[in-house]
Amino acid sequence: MEIVVSGIRPTGNLHLGNYFGAVKNFLRLQEEYKCFFFIADWHSLTTHPHPGDVTANVRKILAEYLACGIDPEKAAIYVQSDVKETLELYLYLNMNAYLGELQRVTSFKEKARKQPENVNAGLLTYPTLMAADIIIHKADKVPVGKDQEQNMEMARKFARRFNMMYGVDFFPEPQSYSFGGDAVKVPGLDGSGKMGKSEGNAIYLIDDAATIRKKVMKAVTDSGPTEPNAEKPEPIENLFKMLKIVSSPDTYDYFNEKYNSCEIRYGDLKKQLAEDIVNFTTPIRERILDFSANTEYMDRVARQGAEQARASADKTIREVRKIIGFH
Ligand code: TYM
Repeated sequence: MEIVVSGIRPTGNLHLGNYFGAVKNFLRLQEEYKCFFFIADWHSLTTHPHPGDVTANVRKILAEYLACGIDPEKAAIYVQSDVKETLELYLYLNMNAYLGELQRVTSFKEKARKQPENVNAGLLTYPTLMAADIIIHKADKVPVGKDQEQNMEMARKFARRFNMMYGVDFFPEPQSYSFGGDAVKVPGLDGSGKMGKSEGNAIYLIDDAATIRKKVMKAVTDSGPTEPNAEKPEPIENLFKMLKIVSSPDTYDYFNEKYNSCEIRYGDLKKQLAEDIVNFTTPIRERILDFSANTEYMDRVARQGAEQARASADKTIREVRKIIGFH
């Protein structure tokens, strides 16, 4: 049976990027495979050394996961720091991870630029911890968004390297998974780049209708195309990408034709987009509020998830020790 692992850092609320990049694919996979979904609280310390109330942050994300439909009957949902076996594997992987390759990772370079006063070793070894999260369950598939591609390459490299170094065929090389092929990058609506909590451009699943409308209406546009079938500049392309993700194909085609014939009214497009987002998020938002009120249930889910994850991790780490030579 194939194994699926995915995770998220508890540094903010779940946004549309998280949902369409990772969670949606996980929802499909949980129907068929053995699935693990975890909240990467250790990873969040690389950028947030004083996370405040970790338990509250974790519960917030947990409520959001559950509201999206991640089902504790089908997937083990757990908190990273409840599975200490991951740290042992992280240590072994770090012994065979090299400074040069870690320093070349784009997200390391970006974060080092953003927080020059705190270029810590955890930031540098972020990819080895992420690889440990994944291969501790010997995962085959990892539903993640496009921004995680380089981390996934590193995870494959570390899995392959372990096998090579010890002459075994033990860890599978985990593959990114996105239904329909290519990894998804949900754009921001502020003109360029991706949607992200640290980008300050995110539409959250917990946002109410008025907030969503306001955010969408503020999206960056231009004065409109001046010739038929013109190429779309990035801010406009991003609006269309959002339409493709949340609206119906008919809606997309309608506005695309309007654009191609230079009759587009961005105000209309944004209104439609906002309504489609609101229709999508409203039921999720209601479920988030329900789950949030039920901390007992969430704690039980996390406890049961941790038990399942520990059983799987323990099995792997025992074998790893033997392979390395701890008899
Ligand atoms: P994080 O917390 O930044 O994001 C969680 C998931 O959401 C996806 N995502 C997006 N996808 C498409 N478009 C966007 N704009 C967008 N923004 C976020 C991310 O690709 C990710 O899948 N390193 C991970 C957490 C992690 C992990 C793991 C994931 C730690 N260990 C093991 C998978 C397996 C991260 O920072 O995700």
